[in-house]
Amino acid sequence: MAMRMYDIIDKKKKGSELTPKEITYMVEGYVAGEIPDYQVSAFLMAVYYEGMSEKELSVFTDSMAKSGDMVDLSQIKDIKVDKHSTGGVGDKTTLAVAPLVAACGGRVAKMSGRGLGFTGGTIDKLESIPGMQTAISEERFFEIVNDIGLSVIGQSAEIAPADKKLYALRDVTATVDSIPLIAASIMSKKLASGSDKIVLDVTVGSGAFMKNIDDAICLAQRMVEIGENAGRQTVAILTNMDVPLGEAVGNDIEVVEAIETLQGKGPEDFRQICVEFAAYMLYLGEIADLETSRKMVEDAIDYGKGIDKLAAMVKEQGGDESYIYHPEKFEKAPYQKDFVMKKSAYIKSMDTEKCGKTSVVLGAGRETKESRIDSKAGLRFYHKTGEYVKQGEVLARLYASDEEKLKQAVQYLKQRMNTVIHR
Ligand code: URA
Repeated sequence: MAMRMYDIIDKKKKGSELTPKEITYMVEGYVAGEIPDYQVSAFLMAVYYEGMSEKELSVFTDSMAKSGDMVDLSQIKDIKVDKHSTGGVGDKTTLAVAPLVAACGGRVAKMSGRGLGFTGGTIDKLESIPGMQTAISEERFFEIVNDIGLSVIGQSAEIAPADKKLYALRDVTATVDSIPLIAASIMSKKLASGSDKIVLDVTVGSGAFMKNIDDAICLAQRMVEIGENAGRQTVAILTNMDVPLGEAVGNDIEVVEAIETLQGKGPEDFRQICVEFAAYMLYLGEIADLETSRKMVEDAIDYGKGIDKLAAMVKEQGGDESYIYHPEKFEKAPYQKDFVMKKSAYIKSMDTEKCGKTSVVLGAGRETKESRIDSKAGLRFYHKTGEYVKQGEVLARLYASDEEKLKQAVQYLKQRMNTVIHR
């Protein structure tokens, strides 16, 4: 008997396990336009309530990955290790980690995305380096990774088209916040991108998708399960997004902070995260054991080997490498405003999502996919949760190219000050 979407929805609704054939029938039929949105919407809501078994989730993710190009990285020598973050504020990790891994002998062939909403994207950040190309041919991409050990390019539209279609539907049917659906969405793109091994950064806190640690652990476990079932060794590390990562939130200023970190002058929290991620990538890449890898990464920072790799990548991708050695060349935003403490206080907590939204108001992020970003816009936090800040001290500095946006951002932050700092 022919398969019917109605029966698949009904079976899922009753909590029974779907067969691999039923799952692939649905994903393929949806991408081909043969199964309508309203039936897939019902299926997504059934998954929201009933979840997915390990087998269902692996087959579902695999079908999503295979709905478009499966990138073949076999022309690149050695083990390729990818890294992915579930999203954060001030997350410039790839900019520092990829060069550090390459400097220690690992290989990173990475496809990254653009920012949307209150979280930034690596490609937008890289493009703030003058001349930097992130849309290059596959051949050139392979060549650069073989020559220098790393290349970071934009993710092509042909990667997991099923995810694009399903994500748009989840967005309007209140089914984005389902752990198995998030896990499948992220991992389908990772599996299609072709790396042999994967290190996941699962962010948790007020500036992340996962607001509490139990959900973050669950998401991490489900993603690792998908990766391992697909034959890709996968590790997940939980990181704190109750505060922005580092001090800078924006594009130019995050690139500068990543450069400073590679020069050994960056914020301590960011340096630690970079060392940990780069070490795990080297470990999975079978370069060294974890302890030795940590030491190698620390040395790559201290001896300037990471910064040389970032400069090499920028040069290979058409960018002006002098900006990497002289980050003061990045022009400052024409409008700046300091947010000064009216009274001395401890910062009890920060609403990191609102910090990210302030950067969007300043012009650093996208309200919609079509918005243009202002690479000079952003904000720098001089103090974070747990610190005592004296009256008159600067808590944050805001940057914008548009005076009106600066005023709006100051207003936005002021109105939310009680939630940004609980005294
Ligand atoms: N990031 C993704 O790519 N997909 C999700 O569903 C959530 C975060």
